[in-house]
Amino acid sequence: MYEDNNDVVNFIMNRRSHRKYLNKNISDDIIENIINCGRNAPFGGKPKPDCQVTEYIIINNKETKERLSLNYEDRQFIKDAPIIIAILANKDNDPKYEEYILSSALSIENMIIAAESFGIGSCVLSCFINYQKHIKDKEISREILKLPDNIELIALLTLGYKDDNEELPAKELRSYKEVVRFNKYDN
Ligand SMILES: Cc1cc2nc3c(=O)[nH]c(=O)nc-3n(C[C@H](O)[C@H](O)[C@H](O)COP(=O)(O)O)c2cc1C
Repeated sequence: MYEDNNDVVNFIMNRRSHRKYLNKNISDDIIENIINCGRNAPFGGKPKPDCQVTEYIIINNKETKERLSLNYEDRQFIKDAPIIIAILANKDNDPKYEEYILSSALSIENMIIAAESFGIGSCVLSCFINYQKHIKDKEISREILKLPDNIELIALLTLGYKDDNEELPAKELRSYKEVVRFNKYDN
């Protein structure tokens, strides 16, 4: 457990992906609060509505969750997540920069940290944006969510109160020195 005087640092440093959840409802207010934190992340372009690419679908329907698990072994847990948020990018609002993946990723991380602050665990799942091998699964996911052509499916984010009985895999990070350089790559 990392401890700092700064709550935000603590939430970030102690966050893990959670795949087991209590059978406890997340209030609509909290969901709205989490999504509003996502909406307030940086996005490519001017700070105006027509540059805001990221959109969201709140999934609380059992059948939709089951279908989105796509029968993947490592996705079965999403069936039991109280809420799944599908993170979408409206490409019409990003005509110039094509940086919608970065904008949506920042929105996702804001939501993850906001969820942590409410004691809610989360796990982000990619949706095969550039993954030709899984193109069919991407199409199936798009069909389940009835997405029009201008809407890209970026990721799914599960949300649920943490089950303390969940055993988390040990986490090992590359060392600071290995990943951080000064001014250029080769020093
Ligand atoms: C792009 C991306 C795709 C991911 N896809 C999955 C996934 O399909 N299934 C899953 O259980 N976790 C998925 N995760 C969560 C990672 O497994 C997890 O974040 C990583 O192992 C680091 O562990 P931590 O989040 O507990 O720190 C994904 C995370 C990212 C960023």
